[in-house]
Amino acid sequence: MNKEIIEIFSMTDKKCFIDCTLGLGGHSHEILKAFPNSKIIGLDLDSESLSIAEKNLGVFSSRISLMKMNFLSLTEKPDLFGQEISGVLIDPGISMFQLQNAERGFSHNKEEFLDMRKDKAQETTAFDVINTFNESKLAEIFINYGEVSKARLLAKKIIEARLFKKTIQTTLDLKNIINQIYPPFVPKGKSHPAAKVFMALRIYINRELEGLEIFTANLAELLKTGARIIWLTYHSLEDRIIKKTFRELAKEKMVSLIKPFPSVPAAAEIAVNSASRSAKLRAAEVI
Ligand SMILES: C[S@@+](CC[C@H](N)C(=O)[O-])C[C@H]1O[C@@H](n2cnc3c(N)ncnc32)[C@H](O)[C@@H]1O
Repeated sequence: MNKEIIEIFSMTDKKCFIDCTLGLGGHSHEILKAFPNSKIIGLDLDSESLSIAEKNLGVFSSRISLMKMNFLSLTEKPDLFGQEISGVLIDPGISMFQLQNAERGFSHNKEEFLDMRKDKAQETTAFDVINTFNESKLAEIFINYGEVSKARLLAKKIIEARLFKKTIQTTLDLKNIINQIYPPFVPKGKSHPAAKVFMALRIYINRELEGLEIFTANLAELLKTGARIIWLTYHSLEDRIIKKTFRELAKEKMVSLIKPFPSVPAAAEIAVNSASRSAKLRAAEVI
């Protein structure tokens, strides 16, 4: 949704943008190209992604500052790095690089250690959760973060597999257990049931749903009038939080909603990048 992001930010003073979830720098690249006098402050939890982004944005090196940081800590910097911020982009979740190449166990389609940490400095891995949490805690994670059907049965099977096999080491060890309880045939256009289970674990491990409301509210408080906030969300749990937060901030006259309904990617974008099919874009302007 690059085009839409550029359109929304084009109605600001275009001085400095914060890309809270830099990834490999795809969106930042487009912003720097579209607004030649602008600067970008790029944040990411993942050091490996930051190094690649630094190379990808090499031609703009004098206009970028990149740092390893959880974007939730951004509002603890009341002067926002001493820059006049025109807009903030938050595009969370994981990148295709992390899913396919980073060997962190995010994908159920290839055998990797069950890690799932975006920040390798963090302690708890998916391996720890799957091999040490009790049945009810596992079921709770699958229900709360993945809306997984048959979550309790899956949790029971994991505990049984632990007794039998001792440890569930890899993504495919876990997928084999998942395959025992869902029909083997996945209808065309539907995701494999493992996708929701892996998403739930990833959200839990990386605490992806924690603190989003307060972060967005604090950001609206810190930013100057006219600055714009763009949120991209990739699943209904996250989207519900952002929709509610933006509506409450609009009621309190802290922001105005740029669009009453979220934008979704065009069919052409989904055809090229199928992972974008669940994306929703919501945007607000600080009053
Ligand atoms: C969907 S990708 C972003 C892709 C990026 N917009 C691009 O165009 O290349 C999400 C990125 O956000 C990072 N991320 C997720 N949660 C984060 C957080 N709380 N703080 C900082 N970075 C985060 C992930 O490590 C990942 O690199």
